[in-house]
Amino acid sequence: MYVCVCNAVTERHIAQAVQQGARQLKDLRRALRVSADCGRCARCAHQCLQATLTSPDLGRAAARFPSLMLAEA
Ligand code: FES
Repeated sequence: MYVCVCNAVTERHIAQAVQQGARQLKDLRRALRVSADCGRCARCAHQCLQATLTSPDLGRAAARFPSLMLAEA
C-alpha cells in the first residue's frame, strides 16, 4: 500500500528504512521524502513507522526487497 503518494513510498519502503535505522518521522523524511511535499501522509507514515517498530517481524519485509535503496541524506 502506498503511504506517500507524492513520493511513491510504500509500507515496504518504510520497513526497509526502519531496518536501516529510521526511528522517527524525520528519519523517513530524510531517507524517503515522506511528508516532504504536501504532508498529507505524515499521520499515516507515523502510524506505519510505529507499527513496524513494534512488529516482531521487524526487518523481515525489508529483507525481501534488498534492491530498494534509501536516498542519501
Ligand atoms: S502524500 Fe506524502 S508528501 Fe504528499
